[in-house]
Amino acid sequence: MATLNRTFRVDDFEAIARRRLPKPIFDFYAGGAEDERTLALNRDVFQRFGWTPRVMTGSGTPDLRAALLGRDAGMPVIVAPMGAVGYGCIEGDQLLGQVASDFDIPYTLSTTASTSIEQIGASVPGRKWFQLYPLKDRALMKGLIGRARACGFETLIVTVDVPVGGKRERDLRNDCSMPFRFTARNLAAFASRPAWALNLLRHGPPGMPNLSALAPASKRASSLAPSVGAEFDHAFGWAGLAEIRKQWDGPLLVKGILRPDDAERTLHAGCDGVIVSNHGGRQLDTGIPALAALAAIVSRVDGRTPVFFDGGIRRGSDIAKALCLGAAGVLVGRPLLYGVCAGGHAGASRVLTILRDELSRTMQLCGAPSVNALGEDLLRDLAGAAAAA
Ligand SMILES: Cc1cc2nc3c(=O)[nH]c(=O)nc-3n(C[C@H](O)[C@H](O)[C@H](O)COP(=O)(O)O)c2cc1C
Repeated sequence: MATLNRTFRVDDFEAIARRRLPKPIFDFYAGGAEDERTLALNRDVFQRFGWTPRVMTGSGTPDLRAALLGRDAGMPVIVAPMGAVGYGCIEGDQLLGQVASDFDIPYTLSTTASTSIEQIGASVPGRKWFQLYPLKDRALMKGLIGRARACGFETLIVTVDVPVGGKRERDLRNDCSMPFRFTARNLAAFASRPAWALNLLRHGPPGMPNLSALAPASKRASSLAPSVGAEFDHAFGWAGLAEIRKQWDGPLLVKGILRPDDAERTLHAGCDGVIVSNHGGRQLDTGIPALAALAAIVSRVDGRTPVFFDGGIRRGSDIAKALCLGAAGVLVGRPLLYGVCAGGHAGASRVLTILRDELSRTMQLCGAPSVNALGEDLLRDLAGAAAAA
C-alpha cells in the first residue's frame, strides 16, 4: 500500500492504473471519441473559471453534507455508472458500491456492469441508483427496471446520449473487443501485464450479467464500444421515455442532456432531474464541454428540478465550481475507476478522501461554510473577463 499512501491527487491513480492494466483496457477506460477534443475540453473548461474568495467569514470547517434527491448525503457526489469495470478490477463494481456506502453517497450500477443487479443489491448496503440504457428488447428493459426495484435501487437514470456507440479509435487500434478475446494484435499487450492476465485466467473474463439474455447476439466479435451499442435502441425517443416513466415510480433522471430545451422536455415527461453530461467525451467528439452547458440549463429549469453534472472532475475545486454554477451534485467517473483498479477498496476510498479534502479546503478558502453557500458570485469567468478587457 506504500504507493497508495504516496498519492496526493486523483490523477496519480491514472498513472498507477496505466502501469497495472494492459494497454487495450487502460485505453478503453481513458479514451474518448475520435480526436478526443471533447474529452480534453471537459477538463480544460474548469480553468475558464477563477475563484473570487470571500475572506474573514469566520465560518470554520465547512459542512459538506448535501441533499441529493431529498435525502441527506455525506457530500454532493455520486459514483457515475461505468460498464466493464470488471476488466480492470474483478470485483470493482461491488467495491465501488461499498466505498460509496462508506462515504454515505449514492453508487450507480451500469446496465453494462460486470456485476448483476442482484449481486449489488446483496452486497452494497448504502444508496443504490441504477442506470438504464434504452434497449431494443423492451421486455428485457422492463425486466431490468423490475429487478432494480426488487433489489432496493432507489433512483433510475436513463442514459440518452448513446443512440449509437461513439467512434473510439483507441479501441479499434487496440483490437479491444467484447466478449474478451485474444488476437494476434492484442496478445503482446495482455502478455505484458502477467499479473492481470493470470487473474483473468483464474476468474474468467467478466461478462455483462444484466444483459445475459442478449448473450447470443453480443457474442459477435466486434470492437468493444460498437458491440455494446448494437443492442441499444437507436430509435429511442420521448415516447420511449414516457413508457419508462410509467414503469418506474421512484426518482427518474435523464443523463446526457446538454441543451436547455431538452432539459425542459424531460420536465414535461415527468422526470425528476437531469444529468448534464457528454458521457465523459466518449460519444460525440467536438461537442461542448459539459461544464459549459451547465449554467444555461440551470437557468432554464429555474429550480423546478435538480440538475446534476458530470465530466472532467479531477479536483475537489472542480466539484465546488460545478456547484457554484448550479449543480445539485456531481457524478465522478474515471477517477474512481482508476482508484479501484490501482488499489481496490483502499484505492477508491483514497480517491474519495482526496476529493472530499480538496472540496472542504476549497470551500474554507472561499469562505463558503456549506454547499448551499457556493454560488456564482464566487467565480469569475476568465474567458468573459478577457473578452471584456
Ligand atoms: C469506462 C467507462 C464506462 C462508462 N460506462 C457508462 C455506462 O455504462 N453508462 C453511462 O451512462 N455512462 C457510462 N460512462 C460515462 C460516465 O457515467 C460519466 O458520464 C463519465 O465518465 C464522466 O466523466 P469523467 O470520467 O471525466 O468523470 C462510462 C465512462 C467510462 C470512463
